[in-house]
Amino acid sequence: MKTPIDLLIGGIGKLLPGKNGSLTDSSVAIDSGKIKAVGPAKKLAGLFHPKQVVDASGKLLTPGFVDSHTHLVFGGERSNEFVQRCAGADYEQIAANGGGIRASVRMTRESHLDQLVEAARPRLQRMVSSGSTTIEIKSGYGLDLETELRMLRAIRQLAKESPAEIVSTFMGAHEIPEEWRHDRAEYIRILCQEMIPAVAQEGLAEFCDVFCERGVFDPQESRQILDAGSQHGLRPKIHADELAASGGSLVAGEIGAVSADHLMEITAEGIKTMGEAGVVATLLPGTTFYLRKSGYAPARSLIEAGLEVAIATDRNPGSCTIESMLFIMGLSVMHLGMAPLEAIRAATYGGAKALGREKLCGSIEEGKRADLILWDVPNEEVLIHEFANQVPRTVWASGQVTCDSIPGNNSPVHEPDQGV
Ligand code: NIG
Ligand code: FE
Repeated sequence: MKTPIDLLIGGIGKLLPGKNGSLTDSSVAIDSGKIKAVGPAKKLAGLFHPKQVVDASGKLLTPGFVDSHTHLVFGGERSNEFVQRCAGADYEQIAANGGGIRASVRMTRESHLDQLVEAARPRLQRMVSSGSTTIEIKSGYGLDLETELRMLRAIRQLAKESPAEIVSTFMGAHEIPEEWRHDRAEYIRILCQEMIPAVAQEGLAEFCDVFCERGVFDPQESRQILDAGSQHGLRPKIHADELAASGGSLVAGEIGAVSADHLMEITAEGIKTMGEAGVVATLLPGTTFYLRKSGYAPARSLIEAGLEVAIATDRNPGSCTIESMLFIMGLSVMHLGMAPLEAIRAATYGGAKALGREKLCGSIEEGKRADLILWDVPNEEVLIHEFANQVPRTVWASGQVTCDSIPGNNSPVHEPDQGV
């Protein structure tokens, strides 16, 4: 007796499970949104009776991407800053003149909930079409209780609509708002005693994040804010050592943060401390690229020190507008010195670990969510080489098709008896 299942993807030329290794001539059996089995095509054909069969026609199957770091919800836009940077201005200089995060704060405070959702929706849809099946989104352009809650409610609304799993992070500590620049201690008090409890009370976020950077929050303040988050059940994440070695990676190690992100300027001591604490190193090469910097994060040292590395888009209105995880993989191979398989792992399993979800998604393994991408290429080398061009042929999130690049003319669906 064969076991009935919802879907069998057969004829997979090359399957990259995400974590390690690869399989050829394999199939994936899917039932109730989960992966039921992965293995040789012949073996699975004998075990299952699928309601539907998809022929991968010898192409590449990877896990859906886990984009573990985005600032997708914001009001307005900042293309003017991009043009200024390309003409020679620098990010911190623009921020000091009232641009940067604080410009987005002004525009976000003026946006209603519906406007925030409507502006973010097409960005999110493009991310899903480019293969992201789990996407983290941070608040942090409100910097007052009312606007931070509005951003988080916009994220909650997007989560309801999107086929991707959305993970929400409170980042009221993204910057010191204009009105508290004369009294930063008071803003930190508001963060810890008013905003974090209100966010936790409404169940609006799973993580708490801080921008630990020169001129923003120092290590001691970052720790205070992340401790307050932990006390309210928000797990710690940190923007660390992006523009300078500010000590953020040391804080991450000391408090056992789930991830420390950016790390362009991380020191050997930071790497050691994070490694000992098992903190995921999330690298955002799109930001380095977009800011026209040359000092990419030391991915090789992090991998060789045994850390789990994740890569993510950091999609935001200022320092990076890239939405495609494949593009980020291309940058990782070109500028971080990662091998194609390392980049795939970092974009899937690494991202899942950076969101505490490595048991649920991020690799093609029995029992995990059926989050999958079928590509129109035979292997990862062709995929990476074509990083600016390729779009997924089919994406499944929890076993449901979320995008088909050539609807009606793609991934031919046969009745089971026609075989694969
Ligand atoms: O991750 N580093 C801080 N936050 C964002 C930038 C946000 C912005 O410029 O609006 C980042 O790069
Ligand atoms: Fe960020």
